[in-house]
Amino acid sequence: MTISELCWEVRRKILPRSYPRAMGEWPLRMDPAAPPERVAEIRARAADLAGRSQYGWGQTVDFGPFVQEGFLGHGYLEIVGLLDRWGWWPRSLAGQAVADVGCFTGGHTALMAHRGARRVWAVDELPEHLEQARVLRDAFGLAGVELLQSSVYELDTAIAPASLDMVVLSGVLYHLSDMLVGLLMMRRLLKPGGLLLIESNGVEDSRRSFANFGRYWGGMWWQPSGLCIRDMCAFMGFEAAEVRFYKPDRCLARAVHDGRAEIPFKRGMNWDFASLADAERRTMDRRVMAPVRPRLW
Ligand SMILES: C[S@@+](CC[C@H](N)C(=O)[O-])C[C@H]1O[C@@H](n2cnc3c(N)ncnc32)[C@H](O)[C@@H]1O
Repeated sequence: MTISELCWEVRRKILPRSYPRAMGEWPLRMDPAAPPERVAEIRARAADLAGRSQYGWGQTVDFGPFVQEGFLGHGYLEIVGLLDRWGWWPRSLAGQAVADVGCFTGGHTALMAHRGARRVWAVDELPEHLEQARVLRDAFGLAGVELLQSSVYELDTAIAPASLDMVVLSGVLYHLSDMLVGLLMMRRLLKPGGLLLIESNGVEDSRRSFANFGRYWGGMWWQPSGLCIRDMCAFMGFEAAEVRFYKPDRCLARAVHDGRAEIPFKRGMNWDFASLADAERRTMDRRVMAPVRPRLW
């Protein structure tokens, strides 16, 4: 456990019901000089997409002349507020190449473009979600935003490996049937030292490493514990992973590409270790592995 996490845990013990809150600002508005027909066109496109997207309109977005409500509300701005407050990402992204993976409506995409990123990859596997991000790109005239329909698992065929300074993986990790492969893909895209920011559902437990099977409720395959997220980041070649819960079942994580060119990951058991005992001894102790109170054992 890092010192920062220890302080966080102590704070959480003292103030068990208090979670940090910070609402990020939404600085974007449509050009006030835009003719009414242009505003009407953007509004109609948003309403049309809200009606025909499988999950409706995603994030609530203030366009200036009107607000398009979405079922995800302002959650993306809460995330931005906390990342800013904790200094977990830079306020200026000038010159950076970044990705918003699982972008949905593209709220984070738009903010990163507004903060000066040279290139923002807005990635989603669902075309109607990318169309929502396209509405934002058009409405706010966002330069450098590249819309990419792709699964997480195939991203390295579309985005050059080791080309990104930062990846935002918000609300996506637990939708991945294979979280490790998803994290490995994020690592492939990042430059050495690049930053990975994760927002996820989770179990607030920093002592035991497990992931509940989500039964695909709400499209969720998993509900990982805080330690599980840290462990997975460490196994997939990230360092300085830190996890903070900001709601009883939601957390943010920050991790940095550890600089190694490759890591010895295999999807099965054909790992290439010098000894079958593995380079490092790890525990299968139920007090660490199982999502139960140790005293029950
Ligand atoms: C809960 S939404 C999160 C939206 C946004 N990032 C946020 O934080 O508000 C999850 C998004 O990830 C996308 N997604 C889920 N699994 C994916 C995958 N394997 N590849 C690409 N996109 C995926 C979904 O289509 C959806 O738009």
